[in-house]
Amino acid sequence: MVAARYLPPWFSVAPMMDWTDVHYRTLARLISKHSWLYTEMLAAETIVYQKGNLERFLAYTPEQHPIVLQIGGNNLENLAKAAELANAYRYDEINFNCGCPSPKVAGRCFGARLMLDPKFVAEAMSVIAANSDAPVSVKCRIGVDNHDSYNELCDFIYKVSSQSPTRHFIIHSRKALLNGISPADNRKIPPLKYEYYYALLRDFPDLTFTINGGINSINEVNAARREGAHGVMVGRAAYHNPWYTLGHVDTAVYGAPHTNLTRRQVLENYQVYGDSVLGKYGQKPTVRDVVKPLLGLFHSEPGNGLWKRKADAALQHCTTLKSFLEETLGAIPDSVLDSTVGEAPSGCIDTFAKLNGLLPPPYAAREHEREALYA
Ligand SMILES: Cc1cc2nc3c(=O)[nH]c(=O)nc-3n(C[C@H](O)[C@H](O)[C@H](O)COP(=O)(O)O)c2cc1C
Repeated sequence: MVAARYLPPWFSVAPMMDWTDVHYRTLARLISKHSWLYTEMLAAETIVYQKGNLERFLAYTPEQHPIVLQIGGNNLENLAKAAELANAYRYDEINFNCGCPSPKVAGRCFGARLMLDPKFVAEAMSVIAANSDAPVSVKCRIGVDNHDSYNELCDFIYKVSSQSPTRHFIIHSRKALLNGISPADNRKIPPLKYEYYYALLRDFPDLTFTINGGINSINEVNAARREGAHGVMVGRAAYHNPWYTLGHVDTAVYGAPHTNLTRRQVLENYQVYGDSVLGKYGQKPTVRDVVKPLLGLFHSEPGNGLWKRKADAALQHCTTLKSFLEETLGAIPDSVLDSTVGEAPSGCIDTFAKLNGLLPPPYAAREHEREALYA
């Protein structure tokens, strides 16, 4: 298995459409060597119909390993073809999206809605695995609409894992509401139920589970791991505040020695990358595309507001990332540019330890009930 070459996915950056593109992942990798990086979701149909154009959608630099391709879809033939076409790109895992609540996606029985059809998900995972050398995983919610009991979640996990080679599930620990609320609201309105996640660890000891949803600091990552989480996936915090979220991962999660990495060094390397890819695909990427992942780099630091204003102005005319940085970085004090990320903040987080008394009763499906589930 390709993945055996890397440290385990104790920490991963979530798949995020329009955010975790190849440019963001390049920046993320400059800050953390060990984080697992997920791509944005790519529809199986995009891969199949853009067969002549795959580099643009699937290529990445070798430094981005360990990297997971997330695909979405609801057509077995296309999923099989997409997995086969993606196989040449040697991703470390192929993940299937069963968590996206977008009406555009859910209306087509795609994403989170697929949790209501575990038989299909098992078939999808089987065809993806059959056409790929990489291990496969599922990213899902803890339920959909009023199908939100712990037992229903277990039925989903049980069916998919017993009828397909899926051994790794990423659990976004809130349900999806398919009543038309926006995807952004679907990431904050349904309450987080981490107790479902920890109950899955208890009830499916042979499977691997990654916890996701609302985890915003390295302290929380380690608190979740202390309570037994196999892996922790972080989304928005890793995008909005990449320096402090990713900067501590290698040392505080993976136990690697401290380096003297500074944001100035990250920017120097990222600039070389950015300028080398400008216009690679005709008009794309633009300077704006490669600047976008940098916009969280000085989160809460002195000079950030002024830098953002200068960035807006510079984006109107700069034709290279080098000139963009030359024109704007004066707004950021040297002390910010040249400091290392420092020690991870310490502090006692008991969010996950407190769950012990709250776990739902163990999964109760008996054999004959399990058989009925298959009917
Ligand atoms: C802008 C954005 C785009 C997202 N796109 C995807 C996606 O393509 N596939 C997916 O499985 N989840 C997607 N998500 C959900 C995240 O992967 C993650 O499950 C969610 O943000 C909760 O984690 P967090 O609280 O750490 O952000 C997206 C989230 C955001 C904010």
